[in-house]
Amino acid sequence: MTSTGQARAVTIAGGAFDVERIRKDFPALQFQVRGKPLVYLDSAATSQKPQAVIDALRAYYETGNANVHRGVHYLSEKATDAYERARTRIQRFLNAADPGEIVFVRGTTEGINLVAACYGRQRVGAGDEVIVSGLEHHSNIVPWQMLCAEKGAVLRVVPLDDHGDIVLEAYERLLGPRTRLVAMAHVSNALGTVNPVKQIIALAHAQGVPVLLDGAQAAPHLPVDVRDLDCEFYVFSGHKTFGPTGIGVLYGKADWLERMPPYQGGGDMIRSVTFEKTEYNVVPYKFEAGTPHIAGAVGLGAALDYLDEVGLARIAAYEHGLIAHGVAALTAVPGLRLVGTPRERGSVLSFVLDGVHAHDVGTILDQEGIAVRAGHHCAMPVMRRFDVPATTRASLAFYNTHRELDALAAGLARVREVFG
Ligand SMILES: Cc1ncc(COP(=O)(O)O)c(C=O)c1O
Repeated sequence: MTSTGQARAVTIAGGAFDVERIRKDFPALQFQVRGKPLVYLDSAATSQKPQAVIDALRAYYETGNANVHRGVHYLSEKATDAYERARTRIQRFLNAADPGEIVFVRGTTEGINLVAACYGRQRVGAGDEVIVSGLEHHSNIVPWQMLCAEKGAVLRVVPLDDHGDIVLEAYERLLGPRTRLVAMAHVSNALGTVNPVKQIIALAHAQGVPVLLDGAQAAPHLPVDVRDLDCEFYVFSGHKTFGPTGIGVLYGKADWLERMPPYQGGGDMIRSVTFEKTEYNVVPYKFEAGTPHIAGAVGLGAALDYLDEVGLARIAAYEHGLIAHGVAALTAVPGLRLVGTPRERGSVLSFVLDGVHAHDVGTILDQEGIAVRAGHHCAMPVMRRFDVPATTRASLAFYNTHRELDALAAGLARVREVFG
């Protein structure tokens, strides 16, 4: 449904990838910024939203708003139905075995904190170990650090090589009888590294160790199949996946979720309450205390429908070419060094420009209408590993074009001029 009556580009299911038509689905991409057409290269921070998502949110609030699971009236049934349909939509998106394996959370960060609190508190003790890698976002470091501090456990870190790939032999050596969990990014937000996750999981399973994958930078770009991956937990954020902010997903294998105690207490997560004892609800509701972000779930469902129409395999193929073009365009800029040259790169290009601070690069590009991110990207250990205070990061989505990457390279050449 489109309130504007605008034809949606994604009706083109097959055929060539028509990025110009797809761009028309994203109102934010039609704007001018500082008198120039917006070149949005900050999708790893948050993605822009297609009209279909905006329409779904609006329709929900206009004609379907009520609280879920508690009402007997028409609107409550409608909202519950929409919320549970969104869960089933996400189950299909991840190829999970059952909708009960899909827990709605606020985002990747909350999903990881949930597993740290519920699985971690129950299963991690003094002297036990949790393995992360050197390329993690702070969201996949700090919750484990907090858990380890509380339990007297140890955080083990898989090192990175000079390309920004994890050192698999070191990982293998770190796995041992005290390892209680491996928590790793599927794709790095700071370097673009696509981790060899199937290998990471197989090696962990060989030692009976469960694996959590942080899919924040993977779900918007690659088809994810949790049954094929065989991971115990997978998390991602709605707002990076073309959906609303404030909604995210924790996938957990049913038997793991069932064995975990709940995270927060409150409404909806209970079956019965007396002052003496509370019986908890079944999964996933056991982990969804309080009124959930119903509109967010509906909006995320609409985003996944949209992605399905475009086709994630086609998106991945298009982005592959886009990234190759971006690498070539940036490498041609004098004085530019890519930070991270991994074997397989996701849709992230991190770089430093000789003698110019990343914030200055970002500020000058902004004058050209080009939106990039400058800083540590919530991955300070990555900055330390590559001995840089910060990088400039251009992050792409399927609505970006080769022309925009050329504009980025031209903008960077201007930055060089300004700084002599
Ligand atoms: C790899 C990775 N993990 C976790 C997060 C945290 O996501 P959120 O802030 O949506 O919870 C991000 C956000 O940039 C990320 O890139």
